[in-house]
Amino acid sequence: MTQDLLLNITNLTKEYEHRGKIIPVLKKLELQVKKGEMCAIVGASGVGKSTFLNVVGTLDAPTRGEIRVNGEDITRLSAHKLSHFRNRTIGFVFQFHYLLPEFTALENVMMPGMIQRNDKAALRREAEEMLEEVGLSHRLTHKPGELSGGEQQRVALARALVMRPPLLLADEPTGNLDGKTAAGIHDLFFEMNKKYNTSMLMVTHNVELAKRMPRTLELKEGKVFDVSGSDIL
Ligand SMILES: Nc1ncnc2c1ncn2[C@@H]1O[C@H](COP(=O)(O)OP(=O)(O)OP(=O)(O)O)[C@@H](O)[C@H]1O
Ligand SMILES: [Mg+2]
Repeated sequence: MTQDLLLNITNLTKEYEHRGKIIPVLKKLELQVKKGEMCAIVGASGVGKSTFLNVVGTLDAPTRGEIRVNGEDITRLSAHKLSHFRNRTIGFVFQFHYLLPEFTALENVMMPGMIQRNDKAALRREAEEMLEEVGLSHRLTHKPGELSGGEQQRVALARALVMRPPLLLADEPTGNLDGKTAAGIHDLFFEMNKKYNTSMLMVTHNVELAKRMPRTLELKEGKVFDVSGSDIL
């Protein structure tokens, strides 16, 4: 059982401090996610969904608690080890793509590998393959400003997955796209999950996507509740 586990979160608490006042957001949250498991995260605006992803993704530190990835407590890693861990283990897709505007689609997808100083020719091949997977082989030399919104999100997905991370975190990844384009990107998530067994935590207000996900979690009062199959959606 524990070998199937990718993520084991216990007692996770996150508080912000704002002008001397404590704002509690996550309150002793517990969650276990298996390897290859796909979870939608739903919940009211301001409840802490983005905070949760940022903390799990090590972009922000928890106030208390443990986040174990493959058994290792990542809240105890040094800053140097943490950036290495993040680069290898976690892929991010946000509502806005955050691609680097001065670089082409291909260069943007090569970027995570460049940070690891991999062999450049191999990296280029992998990035090209990844862009082909997301249907963009004909847009390799386009810069983000020369791509449509859906294409930009495909590049962001290719960049998130090029290192083959075991965990993909996505915060409203299709919130800006029309229904048809969004559905195309959702298909890609499922394809990638099948192909690479990537676990996914996906914050979404998109009912169609939440319904398609095998597991749905609701964030409420600082904790997550499994609401899979309930009529909350
Ligand atoms: N850096 C910060 N400092 C203080 N308070 C913050 C900070 N970031 C977020 N908050 C507060 O924490 C709460 C949770 O914010 P968060 O962005 O995680 O919500 P969310 O569930 O993602 O909402 P939405 O669905 O609108 O994106 C909010 O009440 C917000 O005002
Ligand atoms: Mg949010």
